[in-house]
Amino acid sequence: MTESTPQEHAHASAGPSERVERLLAAMSVEEKVGQLTQLFYFGGPASVAGADSEIAQQPRMVEGALARGAVGSLLFVTDPAENNRLQQLAIDGSAHRIPVIFGFDVIHGFRTIFPVPIALAASWNPDLITQAQSVAAREARAVGIHWAFAPMVDIARDPRWGRIVEGAGEDPYLGAVVAAAQVRGFQGDHIGAPDHILAGPKHFAGYGAALGGRDYDEVDLSDQEFWNTYLPPFRAAVEAGAANIMSAYMDLNGVPATGNAWLLTDVLRDALGFDGFVVTDANAAKDLETHHFAADPADAAVRAITAGVDMEMAIFEPAFAHLVDAVAAGRVDTARLDEAVRRILTVKEQLGLFDDPFVDVDTAEQVLTDPAHRAVARAAAEGAAVLLRNDNGVLPLHAESVNTVAVIGPLADSARDTIGPWVFAYDGDETVTIADGIRARLQGIAEVTVAQGVPRPTRTFPSMFDMWGDGSPKDPSGFDADSALQHAVDTATQADFAIVVIGEQQDMIGESASRSDLSLPGDQLRLLEAVVATGTPVVVVLMSGRPLDIRWVAEHVPAILQAWYPGTRGGEAVARLLFGDTAPTGKLPFTWPRNVGQVPMHHAVTRSHAPNDQGRRYWDVASTPLYPFGHGLTYTHFEYGTPRVDHSPIPLDGAVTVTVDITNVGDRDGTETAQLYLHQRFGTSSRPLRQLVGFQRVQIAAGATETVTFTIGAEARRYWSAATRDWVTDASQFDVWVGGSADATAHTEFTVER
Ligand code: GLC
Repeated sequence: MTESTPQEHAHASAGPSERVERLLAAMSVEEKVGQLTQLFYFGGPASVAGADSEIAQQPRMVEGALARGAVGSLLFVTDPAENNRLQQLAIDGSAHRIPVIFGFDVIHGFRTIFPVPIALAASWNPDLITQAQSVAAREARAVGIHWAFAPMVDIARDPRWGRIVEGAGEDPYLGAVVAAAQVRGFQGDHIGAPDHILAGPKHFAGYGAALGGRDYDEVDLSDQEFWNTYLPPFRAAVEAGAANIMSAYMDLNGVPATGNAWLLTDVLRDALGFDGFVVTDANAAKDLETHHFAADPADAAVRAITAGVDMEMAIFEPAFAHLVDAVAAGRVDTARLDEAVRRILTVKEQLGLFDDPFVDVDTAEQVLTDPAHRAVARAAAEGAAVLLRNDNGVLPLHAESVNTVAVIGPLADSARDTIGPWVFAYDGDETVTIADGIRARLQGIAEVTVAQGVPRPTRTFPSMFDMWGDGSPKDPSGFDADSALQHAVDTATQADFAIVVIGEQQDMIGESASRSDLSLPGDQLRLLEAVVATGTPVVVVLMSGRPLDIRWVAEHVPAILQAWYPGTRGGEAVARLLFGDTAPTGKLPFTWPRNVGQVPMHHAVTRSHAPNDQGRRYWDVASTPLYPFGHGLTYTHFEYGTPRVDHSPIPLDGAVTVTVDITNVGDRDGTETAQLYLHQRFGTSSRPLRQLVGFQRVQIAAGATETVTFTIGAEARRYWSAATRDWVTDASQFDVWVGGSADATAHTEFTVER
């Protein structure tokens, strides 16, 4: 196909913004509205749906819209040749031959799958996160995708909410560091950088505070929670240069985020200074009517664009199609319309799409199969794993001292579950499951036996992703649970060690996958109890994207490794961690509750009038977490000296330097993530007992001591107060703790004076 590129017809001679202005001046309202319309292209899923289903008609509807120049962007096209075909349709259908921009959910990898985002956050390693998302960007760009609907930066403090797996957990400081690291990974050092794509932080804003953890349900956030907790990761993503922001589905304080002018203009534009473009979540503009906020699709479109939305993401007929009449009727400010179009054309220009809209089909596969990408995936899986418990140094296992190792559990050998949710273009055959990884690691050393043990746990209600026919594996009909359990018990009995892999299937978490309970689903606990009862030593490897109720596990199993959904090379990484080829260094990005009744629970609570019974708020369960925020063990131990501040008091806008010596008191080199927590003892508002304001990863040789230095500036002490309804920095006395989790005890203090 001779691919005519658009510059023959566009204003190739114009400079970047001059070309955009010329285009804008020449475009009809219909063309402008077309540029603000993004459509799904369900080529793949449509083929698995019934021929007469609405979804099966969808590709034809989209191609018709392309031919009319009524589309500015497509999503869900992952094949380079298909990308080029649709791009040519778009250019030919556009009066001014404007190319489309292709977006996609590149959440934790494209072909190479990295650990899920909550796991990447658990690495507390911004450089590793940037590296991972840079690989993901390179692979996505190689097939013609220009834009990732990522990072998801929603703070999550309720693990019943399924999308906790997509974010960076409960803390605004960690969330901000991770958000910026991801934006840098996707975009490189500028928009349009080779092998990089736009970052689209989402879902603006407050989505993670859904009532009851129920995905899509309303959010009621106080101003102080909004500004101090849920907004900082978005601020960091904008400051890192994110090109796009996605508006959220839900009602925020009674006003749908996607029709919320305070949110999309006053906050995003005026307070954060965002100058990129805003896309809605899928159908979120049209759904303003579903919310019973807008009267009809036309009203929905008008209110979305007026609030600050630039582009509508739609599955079928877009609401924005009504904008043409709305403009004619004077219901939409044409300056607002032009501003939105200008942003879209500008980003297409920055990506070079006017000059080079097509992708090189021949080189795509070579990029997607680059072994260097798989190496980064393994390193990320190793860095993400969190060692929750390791009594008596059970781990690392010594491969030379075992003859037979049993690997047991329904998740142990499931490639689909190993890579987790929000993955589409992966290669299942090359995914290394935990059983695969242990088999490979013990090849020629010990025998590895694998037993599923119990029926795979299943959801009560179907997953929204079933339409792709890509759910977690199902047991064959007639699966004999009794014999499977007996086989697992026999396997454990005959082994020197049993590695039990349990958790949630990947379709039990993510979008539209909230859960009312945190228990191990199905019969997995019964399986573990039976294996422990054999007397064979047991270690547990957890696969989940949320904390689970593992009280029994924590009492009866001496070693527990949270592996998350570790990705394409997950099994290799877990094997290396279990057998000590490398040591776990991850730290929890959320508080791990004892049970669902404690939820919501986080580390940054205020002191209350009864701080001494923090642990006894309930009469039936200790009200402390099972594991604190920031918790994670390794194969050595660290001791913290007493921290020191360089000077005190300091002025209101001053900074202190906190210095602390950390000693590796074990016999193995190790890496610690030293965390810095702050508490303001009095002031305009009550402030968190433990506010994370810094962390540093430090490698310390066995027996050695390293000195770590932090700076606490005025920014760390600035917060939004409900007392003054404004930002404040108080003169006060401050406690400082440094340690390996939010339970840090190494303490110092300083004073701030006016
Ligand atoms: C989904 C999600 C959003 C995703 C978008 C496109 O409903 O809410 O995170 O990027 O639609 O798939």
